[in-house]
Amino acid sequence: MITKKDQCFYLSTKNTTYLFSVTETGHLEHLYYGKTIAPDSINLEALSEKRSLPIGTGTAYDNAHKTLFLGNLCLEYSTMGKGDCRESSVDIEYGRGMHTLDFTVKDFRILQGKPRTFGGLAESYGDKETCTTLEITLKDTCLPIRLALSYTAFEDSDVITRRSTLFNDSDRTITIRNLASLQLDLDEDDWNFVTFDGAWSRERYQHERPLMPGIMINDSKTGVSSAEHNPCVFLTKQGSTPSNGECIGCNLVYSGNHRELVETSPYGKVRLLTGINPATFSWELSSQDRFQSPEAVLTFSSLGMNGASNNFHHFINNHIVRGPWKFRERPVLVNNWEATYFNFSEDKLIALAKQSAELGAELFVLDDGWFGIRNDDTTSLGDWTVNPKKLPSGLSRLSLEIHRLGMMFGLWVEPEMISVESELYKKHPDWMVAIPGRTPSVGRNQHLLDLTRLDVREYLFKILSDTWHLADVNYIKWDMNRTFSDLYSANSEIHNHGEFIHRYVLGLYELLSRLTAAFPNVLFESCASGGNRFDLGMLCFMPQTWTSDNTDALCRLYIQEGTSCGYPLSTMGSHVSASPNHQTLRKTDLDSRFNIAAFGVLGYELDITKLTRQQKEAVKAQISFYKAHRAILQFGTFNRIKLANSSSNQVVWLVHNADKSELLVLFAQKLNPSNPGTDKLRIEGAHLEAIYEVFPRQQKIDLKSIGDLINQISPFAISEGSKTQDALSNAVSLDSEIEHYRVSGELLANAGIKLNQQFGGTGYNAETRVLGDFGSRLYIFKRIN
Ligand code: DGJ
Repeated sequence: MITKKDQCFYLSTKNTTYLFSVTETGHLEHLYYGKTIAPDSINLEALSEKRSLPIGTGTAYDNAHKTLFLGNLCLEYSTMGKGDCRESSVDIEYGRGMHTLDFTVKDFRILQGKPRTFGGLAESYGDKETCTTLEITLKDTCLPIRLALSYTAFEDSDVITRRSTLFNDSDRTITIRNLASLQLDLDEDDWNFVTFDGAWSRERYQHERPLMPGIMINDSKTGVSSAEHNPCVFLTKQGSTPSNGECIGCNLVYSGNHRELVETSPYGKVRLLTGINPATFSWELSSQDRFQSPEAVLTFSSLGMNGASNNFHHFINNHIVRGPWKFRERPVLVNNWEATYFNFSEDKLIALAKQSAELGAELFVLDDGWFGIRNDDTTSLGDWTVNPKKLPSGLSRLSLEIHRLGMMFGLWVEPEMISVESELYKKHPDWMVAIPGRTPSVGRNQHLLDLTRLDVREYLFKILSDTWHLADVNYIKWDMNRTFSDLYSANSEIHNHGEFIHRYVLGLYELLSRLTAAFPNVLFESCASGGNRFDLGMLCFMPQTWTSDNTDALCRLYIQEGTSCGYPLSTMGSHVSASPNHQTLRKTDLDSRFNIAAFGVLGYELDITKLTRQQKEAVKAQISFYKAHRAILQFGTFNRIKLANSSSNQVVWLVHNADKSELLVLFAQKLNPSNPGTDKLRIEGAHLEAIYEVFPRQQKIDLKSIGDLINQISPFAISEGSKTQDALSNAVSLDSEIEHYRVSGELLANAGIKLNQQFGGTGYNAETRVLGDFGSRLYIFKRIN
């Protein structure tokens, strides 16, 4: 709901209130964002900044307002040159280096629903029943420039989205240096700033630090939203726990360079800005033209980061993801990449596909290497026609075989790239992003295609749609494997290369809109060397994203935990891969790889034809378990109970359905403790009045994992690494412990369950929990009353 009373704008969602007012000078003073305050208890006098005395060295707004200091007000937007020396949300150069601006309110309107954005940005959606929008127009007191701020309140998600639009009503071109999507000024500074940082194969590790006087920046200058610093950030009140305490979350519906800046002022006020990164941006705005910022997404919860991320999850599943795959259970896939890399034949693919179908997979994905003359990563990007040497019967034949096996067929592409060794480069060298006369830098032996150009997008649309029709695809993995360099375009529309990256992102969105409209039933998965572009912009077109190339079970605890803070499990591609893992060489057990991958969209990415009989049985059981619980594992409410990102050796995650009649709990440990103490499952998310049956999913324990100890029970000697040991491990495995409880939700929340003893070197029986390093269990809680 959004209303205005007196000079106060009141925005509310199910559990939150957002307030600001118009000052006597026409500026917008931010008053409050937090837990619901009823409209009739709003007291403007109590909430407003008091201004009866000047501030030493402060710049007063003007002679008539000698005690109004914009530099010490919480504001909804800010400019330079009128006394607010904090980082501003709007910066325009309008002639001879001048930047001073002063926007004051002219008018506003409140409408049900959310008007579409313009200019080709990705954006959320909502109808008259789910959201309300406030649009406020401000005008510079001197120049013919308008700024429109828009706020959309999504009632059920506890989310408010924001964007800013600049209108150039003057008769000359102005240059936009910065236009933040959101400014949020807070009047308390005891917050922690939480960001999700990393690099290739270690994306979105959570970091938290207390605010200090001055500026902290989380940004990307790579051209993509990046694995380095995701645009999703949080402010958590110091002293909060994962499920308790005030928390503000902020994200951006954008896939290019972004910046989230937090500034703590000398007066203890905090400013959060998010938007396109001004460090790599400038935009020529012609006379009578307008420019809109990407949409920012804001949420508040008093239930800690779990509460705030649940709000994000609800919002993304309901208002970002669209099309037939919205809330549709995602298929279990097998991808050939780590099974074969570039080295595959038709026969090998069919063998993998047959085995996949036997184990219960629903989608077979052919990854990189099927086109041009591509046998490694040095050639052929841009030549999207099948490699006849590898696939002599063509893509359509392969697709037919996969469909005959009862599975969907998926294909990998990397359309935004060009290899110098390609037919495309021979024909169109100027389509490659490079500066004339300067040797271009390379990433993975490849270069960017200039997506700011319409002719490039037309080429891609045609060749991709022809190929996808021919191959009768059901799924597309859209990869993107390098960051930006040597920015230059032969596109005659571009006069200022500060526009390049934003125009590239808009070009990409245009191409994706056309392709997703032309293939409405295809499931798209976005990928960028794993999770280098995991953002809300891409999720507007593609309902899921490949979370990371790193599928090591231990690393995935950190990667998936960090990613889940901003994004729901339904968006996170999670695969079981080989052991030793190809990224870390770490050995982990097959069931633990599954237990962790199950918290996301499950896939397998290893040569399943080479699994032992025991392992195949284990995978079959995993897939059937996943299918039975997939609605919860993809769309349930997810909470992090014990964080990987803490000093604890244990990690506990919880996911449950809406009525809490079924809960699934991951218990994982980093290292195997020697002579361990008691492990306890204390779960606060259960229904307090419910009685639950609790039991672990049965797992297989490979005989090899107990090594030489097997000889304590074996009638014949089995030496480590011997053929006998291989044969035995192929034929039999140990069953995991039998454990079963009937407990109330109240007991679970307040006392918890003391679990069976872990193996500690003193014996073994049917009750012993054998977990080992990086071991885990999945516990099932079923309500029975
Ligand atoms: C990077 C992706 O993240 C991988 O999953 C795989 O598709 C390779 N590219 C293929 O080149």
